[in-house]
Amino acid sequence: MITLGEYIVKTQSEHPSATGELTSLLSSIRRAAKIVNREINRAGLVTDIIGGSNGSENVQGEVQQKLDVFANDKFKAALEARGEVCGIASEEEDYFVCFDSAKRSDAKYVVLMDPLDGSSNIDVNVSVGTIFSIYRRVSEPGTPVVMEDFLQPGVNQVAAGYVVYGSSTMLVYTTGNGVHGFTYDPSLGSFCLSHENIRIPEEGKIYSINEGNYIKFPEGVKKYLKYCQEQDETTKRPYTSRYIGSLVSDFHRNMLKGGIYIYPSGTSAPNGKLRLLYECNPLAFLAEQAGGKASDGFQRIMEIKPTELHQRTPYFVGSTAMVEKAESFMTKFS
Ligand code: AHG
Ligand code: MN
Ligand code: MN
Ligand code: MN
Repeated sequence: MITLGEYIVKTQSEHPSATGELTSLLSSIRRAAKIVNREINRAGLVTDIIGGSNGSENVQGEVQQKLDVFANDKFKAALEARGEVCGIASEEEDYFVCFDSAKRSDAKYVVLMDPLDGSSNIDVNVSVGTIFSIYRRVSEPGTPVVMEDFLQPGVNQVAAGYVVYGSSTMLVYTTGNGVHGFTYDPSLGSFCLSHENIRIPEEGKIYSINEGNYIKFPEGVKKYLKYCQEQDETTKRPYTSRYIGSLVSDFHRNMLKGGIYIYPSGTSAPNGKLRLLYECNPLAFLAEQAGGKASDGFQRIMEIKPTELHQRTPYFVGSTAMVEKAESFMTKFS
C-alpha cells in the first residue's frame, strides 16, 4: 500500500524539472483535507461549530454555512503556511488573497478553490467535497499577485483535484499525468492509493441534472433529456437519472461508472450556476485526463478565457460520447 505522500514524491521525482515545490503544495492540501474531514465526521455532534448557517453571505449571494467558512480558513491557512503559494482565490472570498510569500521570487503557484462543495447537504449527512485548481503565476516573481494570475484559461492548470467526504473520504488529483485516487484510512491517518489511472468509461448510462429546472432549460437540453429517457435496446436506453446535489459526488460517481453531469443555463441563471475557475476548470482537467470531456455545450471549458473571478458557465462534463451527444442536441436546437 503506497500513501499519497509517497506517491507524489515518487511520481514528481520522475520529472527532471521537479523542484519539490508542487510536492510540498500538494501535501499542504492533503493536510487540510484531513482536518476538514475530521470536522465533517463530527458535524452532527458539534453543530455549534460547523453545523448550519454562518449567518453571513458570500459574494455569490449564497448564505455561507459554518463549514464553508471553516473549510475555507483551513485550506487558506495550510496553503499560506509554506512558501510555494503566492495567493489564492476562493468561492468564499470576495477578492483574491495575496500571501506574503508573493514577495519571494521562488514562490510560483496560485491556487483557486471551492473549499466546500455541496454545502446544502452538510446538515443532512449527504456527501460533500472540496475542489482545487493550481496554476503558475504569470506576473513578475517577487511582486504581489494580480488578477491576471487568477484569470488564466483552464489549459494552463498545473494540477487539479478534489476531496470527496463520502462513505469513505477520497482525494483524487492530476498533475497532467493521469488521474489517481487515494482513500483515507483513519486508522493510519493516511490517504492510500486505491484508484491508480482512473479512466472514465467512454459510454455511460447515467445522467445527472436537476430536472426541477426543466422548464427553464434550453431546447437542446430538453431534447437531450428526452433522448436519454427513450426506449432503445441498442444504446441501452433509457439511462438512469442520479442527482446528489453535490457536484463533486455526482462527478466522482460518473468518473468511476461513466455518465454525464449537466448544469445548463436557465432563465434564472443565464450562465448556469457553476463557477468556471474553481468548479468547472479543475473537474474538466480531471475529466480530460481520464479520457472524458467538458464543455459549455458548444466549446471546450478549458479554452474559455476568464474575465471575472466568480464567473459562471453552463457545464456538460463526463463520458466523451455522452457529452458529444448532448452537444449535438445543443447545436441542432440552438
Ligand atoms: P457549492 O455548495 O460549492 O455552492 O456548490 C453547489 C453546487 C454543486 O455542488 C451542486 O451540484 C449544485 O450546486 C446544486 O445546485 P442546485 O441545488 O441548483 O441543483
Ligand atoms: Mn456555495
Ligand atoms: Mn461548489
Ligand atoms: Mn462551495
